Amino acid sequence: MKVLAIETSCDETAAAVVEDGRRILANIVASQADLHARYGGIVPEVASRKHLENIVPVIEAALEVSRCRLSDLDAVAMTYGPGLAGSLLVGLNVAKAIAMVQTLPLIGINHLESHIYANWLVEGPEPSFPLLCLVVSGGHTDMVIMEGHGRYRRLGHTLDDAAGEAFDKVARLLGLGFPGGPAIERAALPTGRHAARAKPALRLPRARVAGPYDFSFSGLKTAVLRLVRGEVGDTPPVPETAAAFQEAVVDALATKTVRATQENQATEILLAGGVAANSLLRQVLAQRSSLPLRVPPLSLCTDNAAMVASCAYYHLRQGQRDGLDLDVEPGLRLG
Ligand code: KG4
Ligand code: ZN
Repeated sequence: MKVLAIETSCDETAAAVVEDGRRILANIVASQADLHARYGGIVPEVASRKHLENIVPVIEAALEVSRCRLSDLDAVAMTYGPGLAGSLLVGLNVAKAIAMVQTLPLIGINHLESHIYANWLVEGPEPSFPLLCLVVSGGHTDMVIMEGHGRYRRLGHTLDDAAGEAFDKVARLLGLGFPGGPAIERAALPTGRHAARAKPALRLPRARVAGPYDFSFSGLKTAVLRLVRGEVGDTPPVPETAAAFQEAVVDALATKTVRATQENQATEILLAGGVAANSLLRQVLAQRSSLPLRVPPLSLCTDNAAMVASCAYYHLRQGQRDGLDLDVEPGLRLG
């Protein structure tokens, strides 16, 4: 089964063709990062207008690379939430038009769920249920138990900023640019004679959160702001603050993830979302947990449509379809 998928939930215009949920025939992503970098963050209206410009060339490229014509496709999928309403609407309407003209099954996919399916696009055996999934992106930080395809139980989430959002905001405070995650990771890299040092000298406070699997990152952002303003002694060098911030976020994510695996049945840990690209997070989780850790390759961690096509395949296989009256759901949750 060949699925054409479209993803426009945020600032990436993406289209992909995936066969049987696991084999990528084409995966095209047009990033708007440079455009939004000049504003220091994503401007929703700018994003939707750019999607309008990019969407048709991106789909054409996906068809060309996969050597598929529209008539070779078996279904059309697109992200219908969560995300920016104006951005989601562009992908949704183009997908509907294709489905209508070609009389193809149409299916709307939850963006958070699709991030998890990036792990199905890796060669080798499929992940085995129940899985402990940590979805860490620019808009969400969710911990869920995945009991089967489409079956989720939410354990916890962030009470304020998402992990990626915290990276982006702190990078802005430190003058490191956008997107913040990769910029902080680069700045935090130990250099010179102390390159082997495991932990940064500076330690930032960890938030105390009542829910055993909930997170909070806004206090960390305030702590960095106070350091930058010189309210707590001399302002440390940027690499030191970046390293301390990264360490604090990774520690919170890893500690609660490992606890969740001990208190819930899970056979594997699965990382998903843009922040899964962070190498310290991968490294610390691999060190602290005895369960196998699955992480998508870097290019599939951030927003793309191949993961949407994979997720769609498993839903379609269960007989699920959507009508042409499907609407976007900007506030959609997982589990
Ligand atoms: O999943 P994604 O591409 O978009 C959303 O659905 O939000 O995630 C983007 C987020 C951004 O906040 C970005 O700063 C973060 O992922 N990110 C990272 C890294 N690469 C991207 N955060 C930490 N370390 C990274 N290497
Ligand atoms: Zn995403």
